[in-house]
Amino acid sequence: MSRTIASSIAGRHVEGAPGGELSLDNPADLSDHVATVHLGDAQTVLAGARAAKDAQGAWAATPAPRRGRVIQQIGRIIEANKSALATLVTREIGKPHGEALGEVQEMVDTCDFFLGEGRRLYGQTVPSEMPDKQLFTFRRPVGSIVVVTAGNFPVAVPSWYLVPALLCGNTVTWKPAEYAAASAQAVAELFWAGGLPDGVLNLVLADGASTSEGIELGLEAGVVDKIGFTGSVAVGRELGALAGRHLQTPCLELGGKNPLVVMPDADLDLAVEGALFSGFGTAGQRCTSLGTVFVHESIHDEFLRRFDAATRAAVVGDPMDDRVLYGPMISQRFCDTYLGWLDAIEGHHTVHGSTGVGRITADNPRDGFVGDPDAGIFCHPTIVDGITAEDELYANETFGPLVGVGSFADLDEAIELANGHGYGLSSSIYTTSPTSAFRFAERVSAGMTSINNSTSGAEAHLPFGGNGKSGNGSRQSGMWVLDQFTRWQSVNWDYAGKLQKAQMDIEDVPADLDFRLSD
Ligand code: UN1
Repeated sequence: MSRTIASSIAGRHVEGAPGGELSLDNPADLSDHVATVHLGDAQTVLAGARAAKDAQGAWAATPAPRRGRVIQQIGRIIEANKSALATLVTREIGKPHGEALGEVQEMVDTCDFFLGEGRRLYGQTVPSEMPDKQLFTFRRPVGSIVVVTAGNFPVAVPSWYLVPALLCGNTVTWKPAEYAAASAQAVAELFWAGGLPDGVLNLVLADGASTSEGIELGLEAGVVDKIGFTGSVAVGRELGALAGRHLQTPCLELGGKNPLVVMPDADLDLAVEGALFSGFGTAGQRCTSLGTVFVHESIHDEFLRRFDAATRAAVVGDPMDDRVLYGPMISQRFCDTYLGWLDAIEGHHTVHGSTGVGRITADNPRDGFVGDPDAGIFCHPTIVDGITAEDELYANETFGPLVGVGSFADLDEAIELANGHGYGLSSSIYTTSPTSAFRFAERVSAGMTSINNSTSGAEAHLPFGGNGKSGNGSRQSGMWVLDQFTRWQSVNWDYAGKLQKAQMDIEDVPADLDFRLSD
């Protein structure tokens, strides 16, 4: 079944396609037309933000436990539609079905976590320095939020924004990746079915340039109070600058060049398993995907031998087949950008992992491929050995099935290599030494680190986010994201019946400050 997807603002579908039409095909089988997308323009983004602003007061006035009830209902509806939504995600962006089911589960987990927050959203009572005066803190919603998300996690990552933002009493204009519009519309429908009033969640489809322009118009008109963005470093910088000019702090979750360090005392097979899953799962198109494995020089050759063997044995192909490690690239655009990075393989590197490099086709086949490679957009898994800190492949995210391998002499050098590229999203160390594990965790610059686990697979209730080029230090998920979607308000209530001046109308407490104990 093919569908037409359009923006939806304040409960009404937006007519027309001022930004043009986009045709979406299944990347595993390009003859399967998934959807036609009617794109809006900057005015559509602005209209979404206006509708969100208009709806915000009433939504914020809805008692938080009732908002929590809506989140609970959304979670149950998503759970009941788990299989259908996961199948759509697989069809639209080629994510293996098992992983797509996991993504939908992550939405359910996020709803389960936040439905109770509707009955907490705690503030504090604080003692005053004066009598007959009480101090309090309250979490207040930020207002109308524009959320812009990528399409590699088209349902889980948006829920990290939408669920807490709505629970906290904000309204949202969601601009999903236009190449994952069918999954996005399905998500929006599930949210609307949960009982959100019109205007509380608006879906806007537009390309990147129109989105930035629309957000700028919204900031100028005072109808955008915060930007949430998951995507590239370049766009993150642009939206960060835009937000900064309007004195706002955006929530930015950007790319990664996530290192995995293998110490000489590591369980090598466990490290290989972690490298395989985080390097090639989702065809390397996660922001938490493994970038480079740094292996101690004493075990480098043995690690490479085992990693190469495991990668060659991995099954690539039809994402509906539960044997596959990964399926197609998300779209032709993602494939083209990734293939461009293969030019960064240099003379001092050696290439491993498959029967070819680049696109998998009948003429450039992959052993054990499941399905017809020419029907879709599939790429060989590629291991590039010999990575040094001077290489382009060391410093840049390739967003595809390419994993670098380098070596180091001691933990200090490994940590230097793990940090030197300036990204700081995820990281991992394989070791049986608590000293190495904790030294690494203390000194790696990433926002997340795993010990004897891969760089991917964050749980839904731990802080998620990066430092350096990976983000501005904002954190999503769990209770930590509440600081993104609420602002603290201090309230003082004076019932003395006279003006009591802080710091000035304070009685001294006499003390003998020269008092000393006798020897
Ligand atoms: C992303 O790629 O934007 O931890 C997020 C993970 C996933 C989320 C990745 N749960 O790998």
